[in-house]
Amino acid sequence: MKTTKNRTLAEPFRIKMVEPVTMTTEAYREEVLKQCAYNPFLLHSKDVFIDLLTDSGTGAMSDRQWAGMMMGDESYAGAKSWLHLENVVKELSGMPYILPTHQGRAAERILYSILGGKGKVFISNTHFDTTRANIEFTGATAIDVMPLEARDPNIDLPFKGNIDTQALEALIAQHGANAIAAVIMTVTNNSAGGQPVSMQNVKEVRRICDQHKLMLVIDGCRVAENSYFIKQRETAYAHMTYEAIAQEMLRLADAFVMSAKKDGLVNMGGLLCLKDEALSMQCTNLLIISEGFATYGGLSGRDMEAMAIGLKEVFDPDYLHYRIRSTAYLGEHLKAKGIPVVWPIGGHAVYIDAKALYPHIPVHEYPGQVLVCDLYTLGGIRCVEVGSVMFGKYDADHQLIPAQNELVRLAIPRRVYTQSHVDYVIDVFDDILERRDQKRGLKITYEPPFLRHFTARFEKLY
Ligand code: F0G
Repeated sequence: MKTTKNRTLAEPFRIKMVEPVTMTTEAYREEVLKQCAYNPFLLHSKDVFIDLLTDSGTGAMSDRQWAGMMMGDESYAGAKSWLHLENVVKELSGMPYILPTHQGRAAERILYSILGGKGKVFISNTHFDTTRANIEFTGATAIDVMPLEARDPNIDLPFKGNIDTQALEALIAQHGANAIAAVIMTVTNNSAGGQPVSMQNVKEVRRICDQHKLMLVIDGCRVAENSYFIKQRETAYAHMTYEAIAQEMLRLADAFVMSAKKDGLVNMGGLLCLKDEALSMQCTNLLIISEGFATYGGLSGRDMEAMAIGLKEVFDPDYLHYRIRSTAYLGEHLKAKGIPVVWPIGGHAVYIDAKALYPHIPVHEYPGQVLVCDLYTLGGIRCVEVGSVMFGKYDADHQLIPAQNELVRLAIPRRVYTQSHVDYVIDVFDDILERRDQKRGLKITYEPPFLRHFTARFEKLY
């Protein structure tokens, strides 16, 4: 008999509106995928049964958020919806200057184009792709300093998203504090498997920043999910609410950038929050030139209303427990089947080690992309390769310099799929395991010079 403790984790919501999804045949999917040159980014969503491409902007809003949409104030300046959002974000971040943006990368572009420039250095636990791109676009350098043990997909550590503080200090000494534009903490650490960052680690980074008078930026698009892990894993925080934990962490920073498409529980939106008045004025000028007036920044009043509500809802303990546990449920069941998953399971996604799953497929034949294609063909599931297709480079002889790992990310949209959808995904892996020895690699037939994973074309090697 199941006790209250080990009962099935039921979704803490009921469904009020449904969007049909269609199951196609394997033969149909094989044909469609061939037409898309084995790159699921080129698929039409109508041909996808379960879409795990990203957790960004793909969540479902609550009835309260939809009600808020109807209340959206579309005034150009000083809208009620803006004042509502500004209040909520001031309370969360503790920062006095709040700028709305249309999504996360717009906040990054504004901030890093002011802080960056040739000769400047940014140091992070891991820069997300758009963060790195916005920094490098200014001519500055972006350096990741993850602890060595966190790069091993099998070591079980509570905070594998942390920055290596010794390496941080060494880099500051090497480049000189004057060259360091900012230290950026990404919570949770998306590119490192959605792993959490401890409060202790951020406090230590704050201390180092104070010592060298450096700016600390938190990229907190999943700060609520990170708070869940802190409450569970850092004893000093066990008694605190998730919101209070996030508030404490954000108060350690000088700036907070957020893609609200994640823990803002909205489909579009972003934030740039600052402590410094002079910097906020510079940012506001750029915001007005490129995004919109300072009280809407590229968003509709209804988007801001929904975001203000989402940023409160995301800290609901039932929601956060369901969110983190349901991602772990997928990861734990895959592990139990013998699928090599990155361990422990992070907040928003399960990462699979495709090199370990298909040891007979060499790295230059892209085992991660093979798994991505198999999941679509066998189950209508769409996900993304995070390996040598995404990060691979070439040497002078055009030989592939592979990525560190050949991973595949199954990202979980918020409040969208039920447990039976997840069980279905787990079942599809039985077919993956059954056919894995017959699988052959892929070769690239077309690739653009940057961000090739979005538009690359492939051919099967048999
Ligand atoms: N920072 C992090 C840590 C992110 O994960 C993302 C987006 C951004 C910044 C940029 O935000 O998309 O609103 O401009 N991550 C998405 C993903 C795209 O699939 O992980 P954006």
